[in-house]
Amino acid sequence: MSHAFTLFPPAASSAARDTDKLYLALVAFSTLIAIAFIVVIIMFCYRYRKKARVDRRNAPSHAGGLEAAWTIAPMLVFMLLFAWAARDYALQFHAPRNALRVFVVAKQWMWKAEHPNGRREINTLHVPVGTPVRLIMTSQDVIHSFFVPALRNKRDVVPGRYSTMWFTADREGEFLLLCAEYCGTDHAEMKGSVVAMAPEDYAQWLEAGPTHAGLAARGYTLFRRHGCMGCHAAASSVHAPELAGLLGRTVHLSNGGTVVADETYIRDAMMEPQKAIVAGYDAIMPSFKNQLNEEEIMAIIEYIRSLGPDTLAGERP
Ligand code: CUA
Repeated sequence: MSHAFTLFPPAASSAARDTDKLYLALVAFSTLIAIAFIVVIIMFCYRYRKKARVDRRNAPSHAGGLEAAWTIAPMLVFMLLFAWAARDYALQFHAPRNALRVFVVAKQWMWKAEHPNGRREINTLHVPVGTPVRLIMTSQDVIHSFFVPALRNKRDVVPGRYSTMWFTADREGEFLLLCAEYCGTDHAEMKGSVVAMAPEDYAQWLEAGPTHAGLAARGYTLFRRHGCMGCHAAASSVHAPELAGLLGRTVHLSNGGTVVADETYIRDAMMEPQKAIVAGYDAIMPSFKNQLNEEEIMAIIEYIRSLGPDTLAGERP
């Protein structure tokens, strides 16, 4: 595969093409307005130059109609552009239900990715063409930013929380992956590639890799090792929230609020259990902060997902 990356690669997804259209429309509109201004300036400069013999009497001091026109017309155009951009933006935050999940952990100075079957990679991200892929990303140290110019998309990757991003590559190829947030000495070297492959090739690639258990299986091992079973098992005498089908469920909290359980919620429940207590339960869950690394947290989330229907529809900004 070619490693000759260009600075302005052609779009590799329909969402990226939509971004290009919006961008071009903005540039075209701005250019049009700029040209109109320049033409009028030149016209007036010429017409009312010092020696020109033009009628300068009774110059109008006010033109209500004209003023209203140049206020309302641009406003309508900009509202249209706003609606257009808002629609594209909102779509970026609604991953389809059938999206493939890939967990991404950023660290100084590399990108680590793990597919649900346990296949891991560093500084590359293999994805199938034509299938939506949802990245669930976090950082092990400082703030990084996952940036793929060919997808016209980037997302900050922040320690202590998950950020997500989704896309559907619609052509095969290798697309430059960059870090777009200054993160230390080798920030500029923190790059890799997104490799979009035909679905058959991707399936083959996925199976060719893992020599260890999938995420959910590893999550189960961790779940047992850390004693979670003591409370979160059906037969347990301790009263703890049911985990099966948790992803996507609306959780009622003791402070009266509600929250839809997504990956960030589960992560927070393990790291800072006192932050949001589920209504009707005692605040007895211990924190697992510093006991689990990012990969282990992701494995446990996948294990919980495997317990019951995942009704998490899309993602929220
Ligand atoms: Cu990571 Cu810049």
